Amino acid sequence: MTKVVVAGAAGGIGQPLSLLLKLSPYVTELALYDVVNTPGVAADLSHISTAAAVTGHLPKKSAAEDPTSEDGLKQALTGAGLVIVPAGVPRKPGMTRDDLFNVNAGIVRTIADGVARHAPTAFLLIISNPVNSTVPVAAGVLRQHGVFDARRVFGVTTLDVVRAATFTSSVLSRVGGQATRPDDVAVPVVGGHSGETIVPLLSQATMRGARVSGPGAQALAPGTPELAALVKRIQFGGDEVVKAKNGGGSATLSMAYAGYTFAEAVLRAAAVPQTPTAAAPITAETYVYIGPGSQVAGAAQVRAALGSGDAALDYFSVPVVLGPAGATQVLDPTLLTRVSDYERELLQVAVKGLAGNITKGLEFVEKNP
Ligand code: NAD
Ligand code: LMR
Repeated sequence: MTKVVVAGAAGGIGQPLSLLLKLSPYVTELALYDVVNTPGVAADLSHISTAAAVTGHLPKKSAAEDPTSEDGLKQALTGAGLVIVPAGVPRKPGMTRDDLFNVNAGIVRTIADGVARHAPTAFLLIISNPVNSTVPVAAGVLRQHGVFDARRVFGVTTLDVVRAATFTSSVLSRVGGQATRPDDVAVPVVGGHSGETIVPLLSQATMRGARVSGPGAQALAPGTPELAALVKRIQFGGDEVVKAKNGGGSATLSMAYAGYTFAEAVLRAAAVPQTPTAAAPITAETYVYIGPGSQVAGAAQVRAALGSGDAALDYFSVPVVLGPAGATQVLDPTLLTRVSDYERELLQVAVKGLAGNITKGLEFVEKNP
């Protein structure tokens, strides 16, 4: 029974994501916040015959413009249990996600500030790019307010996991001669959410719950051109969409699906009573704080596997177990010690890229308290 807020609800991701959330049995109230158009989107969705009550909210207008105007961000966030943020500008061809930082960091900071003030115990799911930097921004703002908990702040990297399953299934069918459906396949994807910081661990891929074997495994063997091409496609899948949309933005519909899948997992885990006999754990990949003091059990082991001293990373995407408190523990803290040599090289490149992205986010919060 949760009030869910979508910040950026009128956008390309926000609208289909809000539609999916309106269908969720876990959502009792859906508050749509954006700088434009939320009254219309909310009115439209409110006619759907599911239980969630839908409200639309806009920022407070100046006193000169409308002296009775309310603070829509505050209204939306008050009482929220989960806040999902696809607010901000998307890429156009030729841009990197990092090119979005200057605009989107400020937007994420404002929303995180609202969360700290009006919904300090809510789960906060960041979609706005560059995720590698905007999550440290959001976490930094919450920390400034003294309400940061690493288990509740998530960078949404689910689209990389979704793409990895889809593209790997296609390779297994085409090269491995194994008839698979995308939802038969699972590939852990770790690291961050941009280009070479995205590291699919194809050595750990499974098909229908079992490790990939036979001709499919040969197609995914290190050194094969198929594996290198598959890794590149997963890392740069976002570029395919940006190019195909030709100036019309980036992934929206697949992102709405991915964002909903992740949000639903967080809500479902929050709703499950924790008993020792509980069924299989609810797990998902997500970009979380793994630095000193992280409340995510196993985070220190992941950090140690990635580097030490100045080279140590404070944020990383790994499969986690979700529970009522959020990301309670890393699913398998030894995962990164069992990767192939090829994946270890990919991880080294990812760590270098991520370090700069994380520093950029942290410096932004320091300079803009
Ligand atoms: P969009 O331009 O279609 O929508 C963004 C929405 O944010 C707009 O409705 C806009 O009015 C709103 N907005 C702008 N400033 C705001 C503010 N201060 N407060 C609230 N809302 C505000 O863009 P989109 O295609 O929906 O993409 C949104 C973001 O998601 C981009 O940064 C994009 O790069 C990112 N994205 C991330 C992933 C991922 O895997 N994490 C995938 C796709 C896109
Ligand atoms: C994606 O992976 O599709 C998103 O991060 C959007 C983008 O800019 O590629």
